Amino acid sequence: MEEAGLEVDVDPAGNLIGRTTMPDVWTGSHLDTVPNGGKYDGALGVVAAIEAVERIGHGAVVAFRDEERGCTGSEAFVVRGDLPAAFLELHIEQGPVLEAAGAPLGIVTGITGIIRAERVFEGVAGHAGTVPMPLRRDALAAASEYVLRVRDVAASIDGAVATVGRLDVQPSAANVIPSRVRLSVDARAPDRARLDRLVAELELDPLFELEPVAMAAAPVAALRAEVETRRLPVVKLPSGAGHDAAVLAAAGVPTGMLFVRSLNGGASHSPEEKSAAEDIALAVDVLAGTLARLP
Ligand code: HGY
Ligand code: MN
Ligand code: MN
Repeated sequence: MEEAGLEVDVDPAGNLIGRTTMPDVWTGSHLDTVPNGGKYDGALGVVAAIEAVERIGHGAVVAFRDEERGCTGSEAFVVRGDLPAAFLELHIEQGPVLEAAGAPLGIVTGITGIIRAERVFEGVAGHAGTVPMPLRRDALAAASEYVLRVRDVAASIDGAVATVGRLDVQPSAANVIPSRVRLSVDARAPDRARLDRLVAELELDPLFELEPVAMAAAPVAALRAEVETRRLPVVKLPSGAGHDAAVLAAAGVPTGMLFVRSLNGGASHSPEEKSAAEDIALAVDVLAGTLARLP
């Protein structure tokens, strides 16, 4: 950021911010990743933002903290209220749509709603050899039935997904009947009604929620104009992944997102994550051109 001539500082939440002398339009993403993640999720949007703002000579760049666990950096940013005139986030698609469409870029229409919760299953620890099956209170058997219920409920709601990604078994010994299981639930849907169905049918007590949001008309139109100017296919698509852009959009900032094609069948949140250099170069051109058209 300093090499690009930006005034750099870190806000109280730890977000890294680089400003020009006219910080009107903002762009950026997050630097944190999931365990064993890829090298494009988040970081690409930060590096592209520095390049785009340096090119147009106005605006600001932000690297949000802690997006993966719950957008704590961008949530703190909007609470502080120094809201940008507009915000754009460039991000890998993390899915197969653009690759299947043969399109290098995509314009995001909206970002899914996300609910994160935990469930705890209490049983009774016991000797694996001496407790008859009818007398057992096996916490892991109960948790396993719930994991399949998560899968089945989400599959029954159009456009919804739900995942149990983390499961902790206690005391975790081969010859002890599990006494306690704590598991995570990540449930998503494109609108509030379907999110509420997931909460009700999976009996969730949300720890964290991101409202489903639409991208704003002006940034979407400006992205479309830049894509069309380059005679590239215009592909509009929703985002099943959560992003800091959703937090800014929910706070009323006119927000848009530009996706770069993900290769390897859209692999993401894994070292298989990959996007082509020529697609990334195109995306930076479109990002810079769109920022120049806003606010
Ligand atoms: O989980 C998500 O959708 C994002 O990668 N944080
Ligand atoms: Mn991300
Ligand atoms: Mn991610």
